[in-house]
Amino acid sequence: MAADLLNLLSFTELLLTIEIYNQCLNLTENDLPPRIREHYLDPVNGGVKRPLDATRADVERIIGPVDFREYLGKLTFVEMDEPGSRLKLQNFEAGALWFANQDSFEIIRSNPVLALYYQKYDPNVSYLEAKLSNQSTPRSEGGKGVDDRLEELWGEGKEAQDILKLVSIKFPEQIRNSLDDLVLTEDQRMEIAKAGKAIEYREYLRDTGLYEIGKILFIGPPGTGKTTAARALSRWFHLPILEVKLSMIISHYLGETSKNIDRVFVLAKKLSPCIIFIDEFDFVAKTRTSDDHGAIKRAVNTLLKAIDDISLVEDGVLLIAATNYPQLLDYAAWRRFDKILSFVLPDVEMRRRILEKVLGKVNAAVDPLELARLTEGYTGSDLRLVVREAVLNALLQDRKHLDQGDLVRAVEEFHRRNSDYRKAGTG
Ligand SMILES: Nc1ncnc2c1ncn2[C@@H]1O[C@H](COP(=O)(O)OP(=O)(O)O)[C@@H](O)[C@H]1O
Ligand SMILES: [Mg+2]
Repeated sequence: MAADLLNLLSFTELLLTIEIYNQCLNLTENDLPPRIREHYLDPVNGGVKRPLDATRADVERIIGPVDFREYLGKLTFVEMDEPGSRLKLQNFEAGALWFANQDSFEIIRSNPVLALYYQKYDPNVSYLEAKLSNQSTPRSEGGKGVDDRLEELWGEGKEAQDILKLVSIKFPEQIRNSLDDLVLTEDQRMEIAKAGKAIEYREYLRDTGLYEIGKILFIGPPGTGKTTAARALSRWFHLPILEVKLSMIISHYLGETSKNIDRVFVLAKKLSPCIIFIDEFDFVAKTRTSDDHGAIKRAVNTLLKAIDDISLVEDGVLLIAATNYPQLLDYAAWRRFDKILSFVLPDVEMRRRILEKVLGKVNAAVDPLELARLTEGYTGSDLRLVVREAVLNALLQDRKHLDQGDLVRAVEEFHRRNSDYRKAGTG
């Protein structure tokens, strides 16, 4: 299941980060992702001292509950020494390679410690960019950081801290994703442009009484660019984006969930004009059909009501939700949106253009059209992974120049691995 993979990724991210941080003395605590830095921060003297290690308790406090036996079974490059229950990468290279082969690109791109390591292998990764997008920019470094701006909006104290565990706020200048990096259908471009205009002309829309606007649902298979598009929108229209992961908000603080949802929407109104982006929207459906938890149901109802109560025209908040599983949503969830935007699997022409973009900065003598023909059914994310594999394989031979054969082999490899994975999944 996808959620499992996500946890395995967080777990491996943590162990890799610790290992690289311990080894590379040039890295400072400000390079650590906020969750990890906060956990290891010395409350008295400040700073994060080396070497870091990860006991079971550390891991659970940073990423949440973990079934260690299952994880260690799946991740053979991890080892636990029993007496101290310390977790270690007994094979760092294998761990790093496994991680790179998952859908981990966004994680790497926003974790400076990992980016420092992977930038040696992947031209699309940059330590400096990761540092810019890492929200850990400390207050002491001068300039108005995200934290300062939030404090102005929200005030200091526990509430502000709590809310930041549930949402991630990015200001447009922190966003690396640009609409230009995405190959979109004409329909997608139009709808995105309309949403932008609606924000720009919201007074006019109010005067004309057209309120039913500004709630968009992105649907489509994983890896088709939904998350990237939402972020890119923020940069394009120069609006801050408040990202909410429903699994986070609902599972972590169950008792407080309804209150937290309200807080997130209050924060959005304070940030206005802004975008609120609810990823994993299908979580709503899963919890509505299972009747195990009254608290979850109440939370979902609170969320749907909050969505009803927010308006682009009146509050200046554009609401975007995204789901990989639209078939799970019921009418009550669908009807909240005034626009459904479909992210389809790219056709051959789109695949060609995506490959051209991804290969843009790679020194490669290839025929993108032929590769596009070989990759029927691949998502944009798959194509990225294929190119990255090809780049890494060439680097194994210290080559920075790729030819068609490198990419064809990477496609075959991807195909083989995917079908192995499917076999393992069903049998
Ligand atoms: N149409 C596309 N054009 C260019 N890149 C794409 C496209 N679709 C996906 N990608 C790339 O694949 C990766 C994953 O996309 P993402 O936005 O996370 O997908 P989703 O949210 O739909 O699962 C991103 O790096 C993105 O740039
Ligand atoms: Mg996504």
